[in-house]
Amino acid sequence: MQVFATKSRHSQPITHFYHIPKQGLTPCGCGFVLLHIKYTTMKIIGTGSSHPERKVTNHDLAQFLDTSDEWIATRTGIRERRILTKDNITDLAVEAAIDALNNSQKEPGQIDYIICSNIINDYLTPGLSAIIQSKIGTHCPCLDINTACTGFVYALQLAESLQVAGMAKNILIICAEEVSKMVDWTDRASCILFGDAAAAAVVAPGDNLIKIKTDCIDCGDVIISGSRHEKTPFDTEGNDKYFPLAMNGREVYKHAVTIATYKIESILKECGMAHSDITYYLLHQANLRISEAIRTHIGEDESKFPSNIESFGNMSSAGIPCLLDDLNKGGKLKEGDRLLLCAFGAGFTTGTCIIDW
Ligand code: COA
Repeated sequence: MQVFATKSRHSQPITHFYHIPKQGLTPCGCGFVLLHIKYTTMKIIGTGSSHPERKVTNHDLAQFLDTSDEWIATRTGIRERRILTKDNITDLAVEAAIDALNNSQKEPGQIDYIICSNIINDYLTPGLSAIIQSKIGTHCPCLDINTACTGFVYALQLAESLQVAGMAKNILIICAEEVSKMVDWTDRASCILFGDAAAAAVVAPGDNLIKIKTDCIDCGDVIISGSRHEKTPFDTEGNDKYFPLAMNGREVYKHAVTIATYKIESILKECGMAHSDITYYLLHQANLRISEAIRTHIGEDESKFPSNIESFGNMSSAGIPCLLDDLNKGGKLKEGDRLLLCAFGAGFTTGTCIIDW
């Protein structure tokens, strides 16, 4: 039976459908039962992160690319990034997960679901979430998603859906990215941007998520990478489908600034909030100039836009949770602080949410 329920969150009525047992309910004429349920939504209760050991500075890149520290720093804000060498993304993901579990004071056995945002890892299958699960000792369902740099916000939205559906309470989200393994290291316009990292968060039932929105518009070719296919007797060209990450930097820049600014303004308007209601804007750490352009459009102070891109580069979906972990562990967040997260990436996917700490 489908049940129609509404809740009011910051004066915006939100509607959900629930499947619940028939007993004790009187269906109305249209086959639905009207039910008002007061329920709570999630809260982030712990964060974690892990970085590869190897620091690669812009000067290191200039050893084999026609580039300079001055060019990269001026155009992107990046001075250095961490790149996987002997270490691997699974170990980083596990370290970040354990860090977040410790920070949330939850045991692995208390986790009901794992969501892992990941573009590339050592295996096509099993998914990275399944590998992490076996290493941290949980036995819950686990799921990989690939929405590129927007992964953390998509994962938060999925986590909320699982909580609202009554499927899970405590959910471990891990964003584990090794973009260094998919870029073309001869393409100076793209390889200079990225760094490898893993970051994680544990979410539990709470009353802190105010609104979350995701989207995808068809700009499939502005950031794209091909995967390797085996030849088959029926598709002898299968093997030729691999190509490293290709990016139209200028188009990405324009899309990112325009779309992110619009999404931020829209979510604030829908929640009846002003710019000043937000304590921190956590933007996808793609490029400092993109963040600066968005900040200028919004007209808010620099101190409200924390950044870690100078030291870590663009870590894809791990960027925002890593920043969140930096703020959390650095004692910069206090209860009630209001965070606006905004991410964008290949697809072109976007995700925006407002969540209280
Ligand atoms: N070092 C030195 N010169 C470089 C260079 C590098 N690393 N990369 C490109 N150039 C050169 C180009 O070859 C070009 O030279 P030309 O004028 O002789 O042809 C010149 O710099 C300008 O190139 P252009 O691509 O127009 O630079 P830009 O100002 O647009 O900056 C990016 C390039 C990639 C930094 C910028 O477009 C950008 O940040 N885009 C967004 C990328 C992004 O964030 N992607 C991830 C999104 S999730």
